[in-house]
Amino acid sequence: MNFTILRYESLGSTNSEAAEHAHRGADEGLCIIAERQTAGRGRHGRTWVSEAGSGLYFSVVLRPKLPPASIPLITLMTGVAVFDTLLEFGIKPDIKWVNDILVNDLKISGILAETVETGLGLAVVVGIGINLTSRNFPDEIAGSATSVEEIAGKRILPDEMAEALTRYLRYFYDILASQSGPGEIISQWRRRSTYYSGKPVRVICSNETVEGETAGLEENGALRVKTSDGSVRIIQSGDVTRLRAADQRP
Ligand code: BTN
Repeated sequence: MNFTILRYESLGSTNSEAAEHAHRGADEGLCIIAERQTAGRGRHGRTWVSEAGSGLYFSVVLRPKLPPASIPLITLMTGVAVFDTLLEFGIKPDIKWVNDILVNDLKISGILAETVETGLGLAVVVGIGINLTSRNFPDEIAGSATSVEEIAGKRILPDEMAEALTRYLRYFYDILASQSGPGEIISQWRRRSTYYSGKPVRVICSNETVEGETAGLEENGALRVKTSDGSVRIIQSGDVTRLRAADQRP
């Protein structure tokens, strides 16, 4: 995949801009970077705080030739790429299913993958936010987020981060597209995430809440959770919180 990067000073959301380009026929590999976002989006309709120069706000257009069942693996593949990008800057993160990159249980990066129907077929816009400094964190995220500056002790420029990120995205996207790609991405994710198995979690899904211990991933990246009655629930989509002893139901 070849990357073309378009840089903007200010956008509503780099994901929305990338989706518009995808509709207009943009090639795979078109990347959008903004210095700030005025309507940065997270999962479940949340806001992604995007002050000027405080983070990398990045989206890429993909046109995957994958079976539909493997499309959710794009999020896991991206998590692996972000993990290795941060490692390159001396940061050892964790990945919380499905898309949260954490350091010391605090969020340093989030991933929002959105599918877009276009005249050229299905495109996927993958948006990545990486906190580069904590200086402008508003009160509501200060207790649950961290940044590259805080952990690595140095200020990294968005373009430096984007250079490493595109390198790892290219590498792992090529792996995902290969014959054994889906299994390989799951095993790469497993090596990087403490959430793969044996982690006590609460998962809030659209219609229920499931508590139990993580028990691996399905072939399509869905999370397996073993509940106290011994059954295994398959979670396709939901919000995972780590449970500590005091949080667990008797
Ligand atoms: C999440 O953890 O909820 C996902 C956050 C994704 C944020 C990024 S920032 C770049 C791109 N543009 C957006 O509006 N969102 C994503």
